[in-house]
Amino acid sequence: MRGAVVLLGLVGFIGPAAEALDNGLALRPTMGWLHWERFMCQIDCDRDPDNCISERLYMQMADVMVKEGWKEAGYEYVCIDDCWPSRQRDAQGRLQADPKRFPGGIKKLADYIHSKGLKLGIYADVGKKTCAGYPGSLGYYETDAQTFADWTVDLLKFDGCYMDWTLLGEGYMNMSKALNKTGRSILYSCEWPLYEWPFKQPNYTAIRETCNHWRNFNDVYDSWSSVKSILDWTASHQDVIVPSAGSGGWNDPDMLVIGNFGLSHDQQESQMALWAIMAAPLLMSNDPRDICPRSKELLQNRRIIDISQDPLGKQGYRTAKVDSFEVWERPLSQNRLAIAVMNQQEIGGARGFVIRAVPGWKICDPLCNVTQILPQYKELGVQTPKSKLVISANPSGTALLTVTPISSNFRRMLYRQEAIKQKYTNL
Ligand code: GLA
Repeated sequence: MRGAVVLLGLVGFIGPAAEALDNGLALRPTMGWLHWERFMCQIDCDRDPDNCISERLYMQMADVMVKEGWKEAGYEYVCIDDCWPSRQRDAQGRLQADPKRFPGGIKKLADYIHSKGLKLGIYADVGKKTCAGYPGSLGYYETDAQTFADWTVDLLKFDGCYMDWTLLGEGYMNMSKALNKTGRSILYSCEWPLYEWPFKQPNYTAIRETCNHWRNFNDVYDSWSSVKSILDWTASHQDVIVPSAGSGGWNDPDMLVIGNFGLSHDQQESQMALWAIMAAPLLMSNDPRDICPRSKELLQNRRIIDISQDPLGKQGYRTAKVDSFEVWERPLSQNRLAIAVMNQQEIGGARGFVIRAVPGWKICDPLCNVTQILPQYKELGVQTPKSKLVISANPSGTALLTVTPISSNFRRMLYRQEAIKQKYTNL
């Protein structure tokens, strides 16, 4: 394994270090759609009625998610981000949706989303204002939690702008308690560690006990440099963050931007593969009303989604850098392994990678079965520790594989078959 830097460390992880928030939700990484990256704070519905933040947008998303196979693929939550409320609370101090853009109100919208078999997410902020300057929840946690429960909302994304950082933990924990008190199951998506990192290393035990997923790093943009910066941050903090992930609570590297403008198809494949390896929530921010068929197929790829949703619930991590390849591995149920090999050389053409250089390849001793999922689905058959298999990845693209160790019984059977074949060919 010449030129290889094997990054150690995490292979011995057993399970998550702490108890998850016990609300029975996010047993697997959340899947759905979230408006922010693609639609941002576009509130001028006169100028852009199809893309402004309004009830119409979420209703159309729900329609298309059912019609175009998204729901069937597992994408379940339709989530509102910032810029939905009115600038003022009502006379009882409750948040209210902007009356012009949400004439039916959030409860009606939730009913519509539920009638499609989907779930509705909403957005608020732990501090005085949301990041875009709408009313924050500070001083109103119980009121707001109850309002969301009354509206039959299913997920809350709770941002961390306009908050004294020393009070972040308390604020996030109090909202968690307030949600719990409503008696409604509301998935709780936090940004607590992201806002704490500039000041101190967050307490991931407390975060896992409080939230169903949590953002650690900057907002994703529609660019490869943004996606890469998130991967780099994750790999360089993996010792701290990976042990906190598991059923019920996940690290959130932010939205999938697949199907937008900024990523090449190879880069989109890299984002999808790596988000599955990281056991990340799969919240797309794109426009499924108008999406390129290849991006859609990638987002709905059952084999990749199976890795994301694997019942073992362990987050994968970077295990090696070999030349300009990065190797990421995720342990899967039934002793299987998912491997992503990302080609970081952004010049030239496809490059080959000798697969036995993957640190986890030892599960192929004595034999394993290998399936390639990206860039194309291919059964690569039975392999050995000394396999000469070379896989190929395009610049900024990723080869994604699953490896299944072959049990000793099955192995004996293969040897027997081989012996019989030899006997007859020698006759
Ligand atoms: C922050 C969050 C984003 C988005 C915006 C909305 O930047 O990290 O995900 O919610 O606020 O204003």
